[in-house]
Amino acid sequence: MLLNENLGPADIDRLVDEKNATASRLIFTDQSIFELEQEKLFAKAWLYVGHTSEIPNEGDYVTRQMATDPVILTRGEHGKIHVLLNSCSHRGTLLCTSDVGSSRGFVCAYHGWAFGLDGSLKATADDMELYDGKVDFKTLNLKTAARVDTYAGLIFATWDEAAPDLADYLGDARWYLDLYHNRTPEGMEVLGAPHRWVVDANWKTGAVNFGADGPHAVKVHGPITAATFGMPAQTVRDSLLNSPAVSMGNGHNGILPLIPESLRDQLPDYPGYPADLIELYEQMLTPEQQAMSKHLIGGVQTMFPNFSSVQAPAIFNPEEPPVNMLAIRVWQPVSATQMEIWNWFLVEKETTDEWKQKAMQMGVRTFSVAGTFDQDDAEAWAGINIGVAGHQSRQGDMNFQMALAYRDKIIPDFPGPGAAYPSNYGEVTEFDILLEWQKYMSA
Ligand code: FES
Ligand SMILES: [Fe+2]
Repeated sequence: MLLNENLGPADIDRLVDEKNATASRLIFTDQSIFELEQEKLFAKAWLYVGHTSEIPNEGDYVTRQMATDPVILTRGEHGKIHVLLNSCSHRGTLLCTSDVGSSRGFVCAYHGWAFGLDGSLKATADDMELYDGKVDFKTLNLKTAARVDTYAGLIFATWDEAAPDLADYLGDARWYLDLYHNRTPEGMEVLGAPHRWVVDANWKTGAVNFGADGPHAVKVHGPITAATFGMPAQTVRDSLLNSPAVSMGNGHNGILPLIPESLRDQLPDYPGYPADLIELYEQMLTPEQQAMSKHLIGGVQTMFPNFSSVQAPAIFNPEEPPVNMLAIRVWQPVSATQMEIWNWFLVEKETTDEWKQKAMQMGVRTFSVAGTFDQDDAEAWAGINIGVAGHQSRQGDMNFQMALAYRDKIIPDFPGPGAAYPSNYGEVTEFDILLEWQKYMSA
């Protein structure tokens, strides 16, 4: 379903209409646009590749994707983190075929070329002298990401030498990342290997939904949302309608659902957390961040382009107090109409094994391949492929026009940075992700 083999900037500018808060349906289905995204967006942006707790020791590695490119994330000498293209520099075969391991390097199964943890070529199959001095082996190291950096244990990489520093790329979003990733002195760790599953939907569907879609929580997830939070759907709706959504800048967006004012004297501060962790939050977070965090009954964010997180204090049964789970995920593009979701659960390093187990169980139950929420979302998202596949239906738009009502209603005295809007229903922050997408695609 090619839109136009000679897709140019003028075509791209028409795909997202800022004035009307609409976007062409083609950007969720068209393979030529998908191919252009690889060059214009995924070759330029900082992409999430893993967590420092997954590769704690020298020699540790995990294999990952940076969009359509397979990579190896390694911990090399002196603890340095490297991101290597997982494609042998001899004839291109996949070099490392394990998901995770620890090694002094990588030896290609095809002809035996060997590489160090930093991607440097150490040996060819036979004596390097056989090349008779005619080859500069330094040019045959593995390709590496141009830049690799971390924030709060989150490892990002980019192929673009000219990319801004990660700290600048994340910018004001760091204040919001801190609420989930930087709230205890030792920080977070991942609970096990990522869960991975394929969904028949464009990767932006997930990124936009987590950037974040308030109304769908009480529609497609209706009974599940009410049961998960132990609140009537109407209470959840009231919370979402009256909680802030934030455009953090650079395409990073999210919502901060808060305990409704009417329930604040019935619920504890920091619902779903044990007392020993709350003590640590109060050491690490600023007074403004604490004032926000203590009333959160969720948190959903997308760091542009395809890294998201969701936190929710959910209940196993109405007699027990809630348990917070934090999931992070990457919406890996596979094709215009398919993505692979990579999903991890995180917990504070300082907490007890028992709490880690509970947080993991709650995550698996809610936001995972078999999780209640993902079951609902996957069906709605896959329906988009079918709904907009036809000649008539693909000519329409995706509608984000509640943004027209909300985009000028910036909360003047909001305690966090960025532009905050007064409702999770506003669609402003979801649409902001597509505006950022358009900037990259038009550049
Ligand atoms: S393809 Fe790797 S050594 Fe030949
Ligand atoms: Fe959802």
